[in-house]
Amino acid sequence: MRQAHVLNVGVIGGGFIGTLHARVLYEISMSRLVAIADIDETVVKKAAEQFGCDSYAKYEELLQRDDIDAVYICLPDRHHVEPAVAAARAGKHIFMEKPIARTVREAEEIKSQAEKNNVRLMVGHLLRFDPRYAQLYQRINRGELGEIIHMRVKRQNPKFIHGRLKGRTSMLYYVGIHDIDVMLWCAREKVTEVYAKKVSKVHDEDCVFALCTFGSGAVATLEFSWSLPERFPTGIWSEMEVVGTQGAAWIDNCEQGLKVCTNGLSFPDCYLWPEYNGQRMGDLRNESMHFCDAVLHEKEFLMPTDDAITAVSFIEACFESMDKGKPVSL
Ligand SMILES: NC(=O)c1ccc[n+]([C@@H]2O[C@H](COP(=O)([O-])OP(=O)(O)OC[C@H]3O[C@@H](n4cnc5c(N)ncnc54)[C@H](O)[C@@H]3O)[C@@H](O)[C@H]2O)c1
Repeated sequence: MRQAHVLNVGVIGGGFIGTLHARVLYEISMSRLVAIADIDETVVKKAAEQFGCDSYAKYEELLQRDDIDAVYICLPDRHHVEPAVAAARAGKHIFMEKPIARTVREAEEIKSQAEKNNVRLMVGHLLRFDPRYAQLYQRINRGELGEIIHMRVKRQNPKFIHGRLKGRTSMLYYVGIHDIDVMLWCAREKVTEVYAKKVSKVHDEDCVFALCTFGSGAVATLEFSWSLPERFPTGIWSEMEVVGTQGAAWIDNCEQGLKVCTNGLSFPDCYLWPEYNGQRMGDLRNESMHFCDAVLHEKEFLMPTDDAITAVSFIEACFESMDKGKPVSL
């Protein structure tokens, strides 16, 4: 990597999260947004106008550009492998939206292609860049809570999210993986057993609940749902609880520190990607600042690829448990 102060970036996939990333990459001084690729022509046209960048319908064309150092892959999870392998072969560093892939086998393929082609790879597990989760991890790591006895993670969304995704993914890949990753990160222990169940009353997946056991004997429950009422006052209600032998800690993502009452009560996002002072801020900006800085200055990523793969292996175990209707060993 040549020593430079600005990372030239292309974004592949200009949907929900791709547009947010493009906006951050356009706004931060460490990156230059060179181009966006999306099969949807209206998406790329709009992005090109908004950010003054080039646009392509085929990501392969974007990858041919010599002036692009890194790509953000923001495609639906079932389309992560092919563009990642192509990007690695084109010598582009890769920021991959979570989950790295749908299966461990595919994830390993992405990792090995990145290594073989000597490009950097970071998976966007956003909560590692959230001050609440990062501080919780630090405190657990320093031993402040003692030995973990039990944990609980939860991420519930109103029903509309299922409508937007039209059954193209599982809630474990789309939302659950965030909490699975921070749970495994904070536990610092291997999971030995998982028992997962889903309920299908309205959609194929209305909720997925799981109970897991760690090698230390500690247990954790995971609660994921896309069944909250449409008019729920926040788009995401997530929580994390860790109880140890010497203390306990809680994160409640419903109460953001700002409540607004106009047409009903709302709790606007103050952490993930809030917009203020004319810019997109929060965890998403922290994540891209870290990615660009680490690539430009050859620093280690805060998010190891093997952790991203472990999160996918946990999901595979949840699916196996749901299929078999009983706990499975890992
Ligand atoms: N970090 C987060 O908080 C967060 C939030 C949402 C989504 N995500 C992740 O981001 C990824 C994308 O999710 P999304 O909600 O933005 O999806 P989306 O459906 O809103 O956007 C995907 C875009 O990819 C485009 N596309 C599909 N196939 C393509 C191809 N072959 N070439 C070029 N463009 C193609 C589509 O036209 C669409 O514009 C997923 O992996 C998801 O899990 C992460």
